[in-house]
Order: sequence, then structure tokens, then C-alpha cells
Amino acid sequence: MSAVPTPAALFDLTGKRAAVIGGTGVLGGRFAQSLAAAGAEVAVLGRSEERGTAVVAEIEAAGGRARFIAADVSDRTTLGVAAADLAQGGGIDILVNAAGVNGKTPFAELGDEEWERLLEVNLTSVFRACQIFAPQMSNRPDGASIINISSASSGPPLSKVFGYGVAKAGINNLTQYLARELAPEGVRVNAIAPGFFPAEQNRALLTRERVDSIIGHTAMRRLGSPEELDGALLWLAAPLASGFVTGAVIHVDGGFSAMTI
Ligand SMILES: NC(=O)c1ccc[n+]([C@@H]2O[C@H](COP(=O)([O-])OP(=O)(O)OC[C@H]3O[C@@H](n4cnc5c(N)ncnc54)[C@H](O)[C@@H]3O)[C@@H](O)[C@H]2O)c1
Repeated sequence: MSAVPTPAALFDLTGKRAAVIGGTGVLGGRFAQSLAAAGAEVAVLGRSEERGTAVVAEIEAAGGRARFIAADVSDRTTLGVAAADLAQGGGIDILVNAAGVNGKTPFAELGDEEWERLLEVNLTSVFRACQIFAPQMSNRPDGASIINISSASSGPPLSKVFGYGVAKAGINNLTQYLARELAPEGVRVNAIAPGFFPAEQNRALLTRERVDSIIGHTAMRRLGSPEELDGALLWLAAPLASGFVTGAVIHVDGGFSAMTI
């Protein structure tokens, strides 16, 4: 048997290169900071340069290494340019797909355009990003890790998030398909399914009434805080910690998905 690593060694990402798509968002920004704090050099990808450079500045202020690359995950061209840039620098070991949009259009009123927007950003864009980045993640010495962001809405149906929930259910299945597809090349593919964390995309949805309803169905009786995703993220990113884990969907939701009335 090999020597027992220290916890610090288990989660050490020194020398690893990561890209966080949607690193401009509340959870994505935190993911970028956590990966950088563990030693990774991080590329923050997104549409908002202002938000992206602010995340980079926070990482640098904490002693980490990061840069912003403009990319729209719905646009194969800009995503391809960003991927080529990162491939030229040696490729990436970790990809986090954390872009997302939400919408509360009820089923009966959900038009094709809104349906396609929800499916496009929350599901198709993840397929697209994985396809574009997989070649530079293949056959690396310690393997590589893709982390998709699913949601508690991917399980038994919630009210008000019809298209979003269907897209997130697709993320769980896409994660398993990609795990199978990319295992021969040493790329692990997993997902984190967060419960409810106040962010930009769900600001309009999280009314007092809705929050009360969510908390009523959450074993721990509260919403989550972004730092409570750090452990799952770093575990799935670190080859020493999760080298035999692929195709998994990890729920970080205070027991929401374990509850019924
Ligand atoms: N906050 C929660 O409670 C929660 C729960 C479950 C899952 N999620 C998922 O977590 C991920 C992060 O979302 P968040 O909650 O931090 O919301 P957020 O709105 O703060 O962040 C989402 C980010 O995605 C970016 N984005 C949207 N469309 C894009 C595009 N076409 N190209 C590039 N970037 C784009 C937005 O600009 C934003 O910066 C999403 O996948 C979301 O569905 C969030």
C-alpha cells in the first residue's frame, strides 16, 4: 500500500490548470477562488469582463493566479478561441461548467423561444464546452476532471422552474454519458447538484414565500452558502482525492433531495 497522504496533499492542485465557465457568477466565482486557493492556475471564462476581472483581482489579492477570458458558452466560435488559447498554454486539467440561466415561465405559457434558451444555456452549452475542451484534457499524466453543475431541480419536479429542471435532469444524464465516453482518455466527469443558494439567476425566483417553502422541505431548515460547495468541488477536482470517482452526481443541499412531506 502507498503512504497515507496528508489532507493538504490530498486536495493539492498545485501545477494544475483549471477553467471555470460562468466564473463570473456567484457560485462560479467562488469555484474559481477555491480552485486557486488549492493551488490551481485558473481561467475565468464568461461574458462579463467587469465581473470576470473582479474575480481575478480577488484571486490575485489572495495570492493566487488567474486571468479572465471572454467567452459566450452559447457561441462555438468564442468558446473555441478560448479553448485554443488555453491549449496553447499546455491545456487544462479541470473544467467547471458553471454558467446558467433560470426562468419561471409556467408550463402552459412556456414558448419555444424560452424553452430553447433554458435548454441552450443550461444543457446544450455544457455538451458544447465538454466537446470543445475534451481533446486538451485527454491522456494527461494525472488524468483530468470535468465538473458540471446540476441542481436539486433535476430530481422530483419543483414548481415554477419547468424548463430549467428538465435541462438540469439532462445534466445528470449527460454527466453519466460523458463519464463513460471519456474514461478511456483518463477524464473523469461528475456533477454537483446544489440545493438553494442566493445568486443572480434565481434572485427573482427567491421570494419570501418561495424561500419559506424551500426551507420547509430542507432537512437543515436553511439555504446554502457558496463556501459550502468548496469541499465537493475540491474533492472532485483533485486526482488524489477522487481518482476512482466518475459519473457521480453529488447533492449539496442540506437534505432537500432526501425530504418529502
Ligand atoms: N444558486 C443556486 O441555488 C443554484 C442551485 C443549483 C444549481 N445552480 C447552478 O449553478 C451554476 C451557477 O449559477 P449561480 O447560481 O451562481 O448564478 P449566477 O447567475 O450568479 O451565475 C451564472 C453565470 O452564468 C453566466 N452566463 C449565463 N449565460 C452565459 C453564456 N451564454 N456564456 C457565458 N456565461 C453565461 C452569467 O453571466 C453568470 O455570470 C448554474 O449552472 C446554476 O444553474 C445554482
